Amino acid sequence: MRHAQRLERIPPYLFAELERKISAKREQGVDVISLGIGDPDTPTPDVVVEALRGAAGDPGTHQYPSNRGRAEFREGVASFYSRRFGVELDPGTEVVPALGAKECVFNLNLAFLDPGDAALASDPGYPVYTGGPLLAGGDPVLVPLRPERDFAPDLEAVSAADRERARLLFLNYPNNPTGAVAPDGVFEEAVAFARANDLLVVHDASYTEVTFDGYRAPSFLETPGAKEVGVEIFSLSKGYNMTGWRTAAMVGNAEAVASYWRLKTNIDSGMFEAVQLAAVAALEQGDEVAHEMSRIYERRRDLVVDALRAIGVAVVPPRGTIYIWAPVPEGYDSASYCEQVLQESAVVISPGSSYGPNGEGFFRISLTIADERLEEALERMRSSLGG
Ligand SMILES: Cc1ncc(COP(=O)(O)O)c(C=O)c1O
Repeated sequence: MRHAQRLERIPPYLFAELERKISAKREQGVDVISLGIGDPDTPTPDVVVEALRGAAGDPGTHQYPSNRGRAEFREGVASFYSRRFGVELDPGTEVVPALGAKECVFNLNLAFLDPGDAALASDPGYPVYTGGPLLAGGDPVLVPLRPERDFAPDLEAVSAADRERARLLFLNYPNNPTGAVAPDGVFEEAVAFARANDLLVVHDASYTEVTFDGYRAPSFLETPGAKEVGVEIFSLSKGYNMTGWRTAAMVGNAEAVASYWRLKTNIDSGMFEAVQLAAVAALEQGDEVAHEMSRIYERRRDLVVDALRAIGVAVVPPRGTIYIWAPVPEGYDSASYCEQVLQESAVVISPGSSYGPNGEGFFRISLTIADERLEEALERMRSSLGG
């Protein structure tokens, strides 16, 4: 069968590789513990499930939704942004539903890139920032995130030619995979860069509700001028344990919202309206659950940081996200260390290099696993890898 050339442009999706490795081991009867994928292990809050139950019983939600989203959804997102971030959004023009941040990131590439155009993508970064531009016929231009700059993108390093063809700049704080929170001035710098280079900033706010040590993550849209040059994608997946629900909103610049909406009317038929109403319940009544989840991840973060330090890994505790990003010990690269951990401990961790060349020398551990299994994984790593 002949498939389109564009499929040849992208590497296999990172987690597909991991899944393959895990099943191969499991087929050999090995009890593999995966700390690879970030997918909350606790159920969606009851209040959200109940709201879905109620809304799904109303035949008014059963027909094709519109891509524009129900008024309740757009108003619910706008009220949440006002209460949580002090950001005022016009529900009529500045809010639109997205079927998860992943869909939204991908489709923004389709809406904004022509062949030869580029999207500036963090390296290391969430893989769709690079796969999206490639599938859309454009090019990702990698912008390094380094520990010595607190994982702020080095925009100065983008060449004049790449600035010229860049249409999108992807940012993401709290950050996957590094766990970094927004470094001081990063959003202001992005606004100035977008103005100077006529591009759209896309801030992926998938982890703003997962933070520790009293840290409150800001919205990009709190930055003066942000709405003129950018949008934010707010996902309910991680903060409200709703990865399976495919629920997010794109908010901000009205022109960008309209372009995305226009594109989407040709691609999908929107978000199930009962899910939209359940998302509103999450945003209105989910604060306590989100805080409780952050407390759970904070406790697990401490377990992992202590265990890694005990085996000689110099790790900095993150203030947000569900990930620990740590340097591999001397004598290894990312892939060889992760392979060693898999073979010796039957524990899956992600090689930093799979998030981009600047992830080389690091590995990522996800905290979305029950405490007992996490403790067992850490104990296995400790006994097989020394300490
Ligand atoms: C940075 C980032 N953006 C987006 C996503 C996907 O979010 P969603 O479930 O809303 O598609 C993830 C999931 O891991 C992520 O880490």
